[in-house]
Amino acid sequence: MAQVDIEPGDGVGAYIHGIDLARDLKDGVVADLRQALGDYGVLFFRDQNLAPEDHIAMAECFGKINVNRFFGQVDGHPQIAEVRKEPDQRSNIGGNWHTDHSYDQEPAMGSILVARELPNRGGDTVFANMYAAFDSLSPGLQETLSGLRAVHSSRHVFGDKSRYDKANSDLAGRLGNTDAAVQDSVHPVVIRHPISGRRALYVNRGFTIRFDGWTAEETQPLLDYLVRHATRPEHIHKFHWRPGSVAFWDNRATWHYAINDYHGQRRLMHRITVEGVALAA
Ligand code: SIN
Repeated sequence: MAQVDIEPGDGVGAYIHGIDLARDLKDGVVADLRQALGDYGVLFFRDQNLAPEDHIAMAECFGKINVNRFFGQVDGHPQIAEVRKEPDQRSNIGGNWHTDHSYDQEPAMGSILVARELPNRGGDTVFANMYAAFDSLSPGLQETLSGLRAVHSSRHVFGDKSRYDKANSDLAGRLGNTDAAVQDSVHPVVIRHPISGRRALYVNRGFTIRFDGWTAEETQPLLDYLVRHATRPEHIHKFHWRPGSVAFWDNRATWHYAINDYHGQRRLMHRITVEGVALAA
């Protein structure tokens, strides 16, 4: 029986040793990984050998797969979204602090990213800890934020006026379906995490457009402050991908940021997103 051997990382996340994700996901192991995901926010695995079918089977152990509306899909596997950048392209996908699908009424629980082709150097992903971000605020700001809700949207990111729009960007072909970018949701700014029960900050740079009842202009300075605060060095972990690496993050407990520092080289990742639940304060 595989043991879940957990080595906490700096800032956020944990490295999981002794698990072959293609063979060892029996009930007890899945339960342990789910708890670890809630506790640490992101789980890092090395030296895996996951075929697309194994990736899908892994995701299904944790919930229903959310087929991505906007990303290109892997041929023959619509459940798997491609996160791709070619040597002649300048823009990357995910190069901004965000958490996946916060614009949905029931935001995604987690995303599982598998490295397929990596640049010789660069292309790391940085994660930020939303438990620590909240816990380290002053009691006064914690109380203020706990009384707020925020509006999240997909429109400005994936819609026809977004930077991903065909006319403006070399992201055309990698992202599309702009007509489907019609999601708006309101969530508490401080949530009670569905697995850990801990309080976490739940706004993000990518998809949060304003605090509910505030204008965008009023919102921006506080949101800017929260981004600076949440991404302080002690709250983050930079994950260096290697062939065989897998990262499984909880979208309610973390943000992530894909670093775009490898122009001229290909980077190809496969992502599956697992559905979540409505969030409560
Ligand atoms: C994403 O934002 O989901 C992509 C992250 C990455 O490519 O590192």
